[in-house]
Amino acid sequence: MMEPALVVLERAALAAMGRAYAPYSRFRVGAALEGGDGSLHAGCNVENASFPAGTCAERVALGRAVADGVRHFRRLVIATEAATPTPPCGICRQALSEFAPALEVTSITAGGGRATWRLDALLPDAFVPAQLPGPARDSSS
Ligand code: THU
Repeated sequence: MMEPALVVLERAALAAMGRAYAPYSRFRVGAALEGGDGSLHAGCNVENASFPAGTCAERVALGRAVADGVRHFRRLVIATEAATPTPPCGICRQALSEFAPALEVTSITAGGGRATWRLDALLPDAFVPAQLPGPARDSSS
């Protein structure tokens, strides 16, 4: 599969942002993950009247990718309408780090802002599977 250009990921993240369900915060977020195989997985934030039940765009994209059988990732693009590019929240950093500690994370704004980080710079000394005692048991890996 051809690697989607950054612009393709950016368009997908912006389109996903347009589908955000964020009636409580009104903070719409879109995310597009590029798989190691060139696949593209998009997500948006999905809020809930029981506020803690809401989910970030990045983890929706990650869950969709893993459910589709993709566990290696190259790049993530986050899109918001914020004044400045927003990095992923702490929970999303941890969730992404499980699969792609060196992920390239780009955040864009509807107004044309842009910032890029490496995930391991955003989450140094992450808690990783190897820190758990015993071998990981994953029947499908
Ligand atoms: N949100 C994301 O989707 N991703 C982030 O990295 C930061 C926060 C969402 C969660 C909530 O729906 C809204 O933005 C406000 O926090």
